[in-house]
Amino acid sequence: ASIRYENVLVSRPDPAVALITLNRPKALNALNAAHFSDISMALKEADENPDIGAMVLTGSDKAFAAGADIKEMKDKTFSEAYMSNFLSNWEVISKLRKPVIAAVSGYALGGGLELALQADILLAAPSAKLGQPEINLGVIPGGGGTQRLARLIGKSRAMEMILTGRIVDAEEAERWGLVNRVVRDENGVVEAAIKVAQDIAGKSRVAAAAGKEAVNAAFELSLAEGLRLERRLFHSLFATKDQKEGMMAFAEKRQPQWTHS
Ligand code: HXC
Repeated sequence: ASIRYENVLVSRPDPAVALITLNRPKALNALNAAHFSDISMALKEADENPDIGAMVLTGSDKAFAAGADIKEMKDKTFSEAYMSNFLSNWEVISKLRKPVIAAVSGYALGGGLELALQADILLAAPSAKLGQPEINLGVIPGGGGTQRLARLIGKSRAMEMILTGRIVDAEEAERWGLVNRVVRDENGVVEAAIKVAQDIAGKSRVAAAAGKEAVNAAFELSLAEGLRLERRLFHSLFATKDQKEGMMAFAEKRQPQWTHS
């Protein structure tokens, strides 16, 4: 049985998929310390569970998350923020080995958007409203927004979002490549995200982890170093049973039976 969390619902829509739902409705899923700790622990628990191949992270219809909890932050002093290394535990998703799909409906603002930006694949409902409104609070994004948005949508769009605080709707986010796609069908964005997660969980998990590691390295390394890392990871997969099985199954014109080993 999985651990129960106060601010997060965890379910298994498929034996191989964990669905983690942010659940602090009275504050539009604003991320206070307890909420954030529940989110990271639920994600880590799923990452470590050998039965699970991918995770879906979502919120409510009204809000994925309306940001870091402003009421909790407002009286912090510099020395408290600095000495407690406030937000140092923020990079939770990017450290997970298994793929995470974010399903965003409603508001994804400030730290809420920065949480979604850490996911590997981002799907949006037509109701999605994405923004970095920190400028209106006299601060800037602190959970990776300036860096991830600049890399994802380019300098001028990132500057506009961060300097004006303008909220971007689903359609514009799709056009900008801020989300993979807007899910317009009647089953909704969470179902679509679960399907993507099921699809990924049905592949070789060793290969999926290597693919995620290699793509993430593209944001850290020079092209030459990144290409070398990719080639070494590619070479190393020839030591796995899944590589033998996958290529044998192709040659024998049958479906592969992955053992994730
Ligand atoms: C604390 C919040 C909150 C937040 C909403 N609430 N967002 N509480 N922190 N970020 C609370 C409200 O105070 C209110 O509580 C309840 O949730 C419902 O919100 P309303 O404002 O009444 O709803 P609505 O009128 O529909 O407006 C929705 C909204 C607005 C546009 C999303 O709530 C809003 O602007 N929220 C703040 C968005 C923001 O600035 N986010 C960035 C935060 S800074 P009560 O008790 O009154 O019912 C940040 C820094 C990141 O994220 C640092 C790195 C992680």
